[in-house]
Amino acid sequence: MSDEVPNIPMTDVPVTEVPVPEEEAWFSTLDLLILSMLAGFAVYWLFFKNKKQEQPVFKKLVVQPMAGKIDDPSFINKMKNSKRNVIVFYGSQTGTAEEFAGRLAKDSIMYGMKGMVADPEECELYELSRLSEIDNALALFCMATYGEGDPTDNAQDFYEWLQSGDTDLSGVKFAVFALGNKTYEHYNAMGKYVDKRLEELAAHVCLNLEWVMMTLSNIEEDFVNWREKFWPAVCEHFGVEATGDQGSVRQYSVTINEDIPKEKIYTGEIARLGSFINQKLPYDAKNPYLAPVRVNRELHKGGDRSCLHIEFDITGSKIRYEAGDHVAVYPVNESEIVEGIGKRLEVDLDTIFTLTNVDEEANKKHPFPCPCSYRTALSHYLDVTNPPRVLLLKEMVEYAREEKDKEFLAKMTASTAEGKQLYNDWIIKDHRNILAVLEDLPSLKPAIDHLCELLPKLQARYYSISSSP
Ligand SMILES: Cc1cc2nc3c(=O)[nH]c(=O)nc-3n(C[C@H](O)[C@H](O)[C@H](O)COP(=O)(O)OP(=O)(O)OC[C@H]3O[C@@H](n4cnc5c(N)ncnc54)[C@H](O)[C@@H]3O)c2cc1C
Ligand SMILES: Cc1cc2nc3c(=O)[nH]c(=O)nc-3n(C[C@H](O)[C@H](O)[C@H](O)COP(=O)(O)O)c2cc1C
Repeated sequence: MSDEVPNIPMTDVPVTEVPVPEEEAWFSTLDLLILSMLAGFAVYWLFFKNKKQEQPVFKKLVVQPMAGKIDDPSFINKMKNSKRNVIVFYGSQTGTAEEFAGRLAKDSIMYGMKGMVADPEECELYELSRLSEIDNALALFCMATYGEGDPTDNAQDFYEWLQSGDTDLSGVKFAVFALGNKTYEHYNAMGKYVDKRLEELAAHVCLNLEWVMMTLSNIEEDFVNWREKFWPAVCEHFGVEATGDQGSVRQYSVTINEDIPKEKIYTGEIARLGSFINQKLPYDAKNPYLAPVRVNRELHKGGDRSCLHIEFDITGSKIRYEAGDHVAVYPVNESEIVEGIGKRLEVDLDTIFTLTNVDEEANKKHPFPCPCSYRTALSHYLDVTNPPRVLLLKEMVEYAREEKDKEFLAKMTASTAEGKQLYNDWIIKDHRNILAVLEDLPSLKPAIDHLCELLPKLQARYYSISSSP
């Protein structure tokens, strides 16, 4: 994360009523991890009432400000109109389940099927009972668990519907991929619940759910292993055959916006365009309040530990909070990494572009706020510091200009024991980020817009509020 003084001063935010003394307003001793993380330029308030302090549940913050309006809310109609027979629902807070859902939808092409991704929050789930109206139809659920075995925010209504509903789902084929972490008491609770409940409602499971252990380093490996068993099971069930590798299928198309007025270009805003200049009530998780830092004080004197006392100014925001609620810090990637990627790919990072979903039926029109510059996307919206996933590297193979780099990438992303070992050694153990990959494989020159499509979204960092109002 960037250690630099943010480029957009908080004091520019018009809601500031208390002037921020310079020596207190900015982070001055950014020598430890937590400190450097807090150097992100945007601090947003989140306020969630009645949450337990030890198990805070946070609200989804990544919103799609440009998402188009939903004309026909019926996902069954959408599937019929676009001749799709696979629907992949995701319950996701920080994007992993959503990313895997996208991958499963893409996979379906390899089996002569056609998939679409769906946010359960935007669907009338009682329509599931109509899924059997479509030939060889399949519903997949990638469900993450949070809190004390709770669903994600976007799966809350689905969860309630499952609990209360008595819909007859006979004839509906489904499978669940549960995302969780074994260190939690209620491991994979949501995935397990969905699996059990759908079967109770008479739906037919296509692949018995396997409880997978998720850790930070092997979450993708678990997913890859699961789908290796899953698709053959689907083939067997429906009597279909794999049609071969689908190659690279783009989910978004790029448009270069040459003559777009400045005020229409996102500059790092997480939600509303222009919110750095002008914030508008009411504030909530989808329109977070950018709070100026009023006091920033190191509590530890000496030693190598750091603990900050930070006060935010929420004057005029009408926000109420209590101890145990939390704030979100939006980090900004280091400019050296961003510039490094631009240099390696030989692109002008000031180019303004828009990525638009090629699937006209999709509710999510853009992967992150667009239009913006490549620099903004790589600095504010995309994670360029974590090791890239196998799924991303696999799509990079075609961009390697030298045969040896192509072979190396293909070997590393193959689902063989050797490939997995190579990925673990070269990517995970060495903690190679995308820039390091590009530097170490100089012939690799992916299209920057494709890279922007594939990189995971940069996540907010949450911090519990320790003081009462
Ligand atoms: C609801 C909630 C409340 C929370 N409250 C608090 C709280 O009050 N206090 C608190 O301390 N935490 C709290 N947390 C946890 C905190 O949000 C996370 O720990 C946060 O992600 C830490 O952010 P970070 O940027 O420091 O670390 P990370 O998010 O882990 O980011 C570290 C970065 O460094 C990179 N990196 C790691 N290793 C290497 C390497 N070897 N070489 C190069 N780069 C590397 C990674 O790729 C990554 O980009 C809370 C979390 C939640 C969900
Ligand atoms: C605050 C928090 C609470 C979590 N609670 C649980 C839990 O109760 N059970 C579980 O199996 N996993 C739990 N997890 C792990 C997540 O389910 C897991 O990281 C998952 O991959 C996240 O998917 P997502 O990125 O799609 O939101 C928790 C993670 C966080 C950050």
